[in-house]
Amino acid sequence: MNGPVPIAVLRQHLIDPEICIRCNTCEETCPIDAITHDSNNYVVKADVCNGCMACVPPCPTGAIDNWRNVLEADAYSIDEQFTWDALPAQNTTASPALDEVAPQPGGAAESAETSEGIEVDTVRGSTLPPWSSARPYVNLYTHKDPVSATVVGNYRLTDESTESDIHHIVLDFGTMPFPVLEGQSIGVLPPGSTKDGKTHHARQYSIASPRDGERKGYNNLSLTVKRVTQDYQGNAADGVCSNYLCDLKKGDKVDVIGPFGSTFLMPNHPNSHLLMICTGTGSAPMRAMTEYRRRRRLKGATGKLMLFFGARTKEELPYFGPLVNLPRDFIDTTLAFSRTAGQPKRYVQDAMRERAADIAQMLRDANTYIYVCGLKGMEDGVLQALRDIAEQHGLEWEPLWKTLKREGRLHLETY
Ligand code: A2P
Repeated sequence: MNGPVPIAVLRQHLIDPEICIRCNTCEETCPIDAITHDSNNYVVKADVCNGCMACVPPCPTGAIDNWRNVLEADAYSIDEQFTWDALPAQNTTASPALDEVAPQPGGAAESAETSEGIEVDTVRGSTLPPWSSARPYVNLYTHKDPVSATVVGNYRLTDESTESDIHHIVLDFGTMPFPVLEGQSIGVLPPGSTKDGKTHHARQYSIASPRDGERKGYNNLSLTVKRVTQDYQGNAADGVCSNYLCDLKKGDKVDVIGPFGSTFLMPNHPNSHLLMICTGTGSAPMRAMTEYRRRRRLKGATGKLMLFFGARTKEELPYFGPLVNLPRDFIDTTLAFSRTAGQPKRYVQDAMRERAADIAQMLRDANTYIYVCGLKGMEDGVLQALRDIAEQHGLEWEPLWKTLKREGRLHLETY
């Protein structure tokens, strides 16, 4: 019997190279390793991606959420995607079958199945913001159309005696709109080009100042930037953008894109508690949130603030001076130093265990929001500490963890 030959149609998952800020979040999140990258682009393997959507909510820019209907045999290969500067147009003239593709599963997947059928929990933190957070703006400025900001301040934060060179950099947007919220980030376009002559992609930095400006009422924001002299393996390396930023002088102009991020946001209800855990420059969003709460406190915010902050030494801890001067009844701060001469190594998760009873009390409260930002390595340790503390205090971690995630109360940003 002769019948129509079925046409295999694919709704191909693609990443928009014009919006992507190469932050690696999607590749880290994908439960089945369908995402990869080269020095140019992040791309999705058509033959591996199962459309589980786990990568979509964590993407800070929305670049991940692009789909093209293609004949399966014509799917864009990863080598082709690596060369793109822009997404191909949606094919509207091909076979009618291309318009009849079943829609992708919708919504934010919290888990996905591997090819062996084992369920894995792929998303460890919330993919939703707190219920009371303000509504963020994202992608107002893109690689193609950045906004120019002026450097109005650039100060070293770490003690001159240490090699660690961390800067507090203030950028002013003049009359250009750049509305931000605490927990959001921006992209900075370093000048110059890569070895193969392409312009640099933007590098992402968390905002360290509150929504109403580094200087209240001014159209400016601050960043916490560490000069990069080594790669992750400890080999000598120059951070293209971080070093450019650390060297900027007052009056210099910087091309900025963003803002980015719509989940790592603070609650706005005044009785909400913040449990903040960070290392190094991961302190930027914590500084932003703390300062916003400090400004709001005068207007009656009553929730607790608890901070665990890790650094190698006191001299390498950004914002050490101002931080230790904040009143204890405003913020309960515990510092953890890993390389203080004559002292045992101490990480944030060790400090959390010492304060287990207070953390357990916060975990019991539905108004508690948890933020973790800093080194990738700390994420496991912090989650393990939360689990142990919960269980020691009669709280079942697995259901609590699910609740925290579902309610936009557990935010992880590590790199
Ligand atoms: P370490 O002395 O072991 O490097 P950095 O200065 O590199 O940004 O690191 C900030 C702090 O985070 C340092 O004290 C560092 O300690 C610490 N750290 C490193 N790995 C972990 C981890 N797995 N969990 C928590 N803290 C960590």
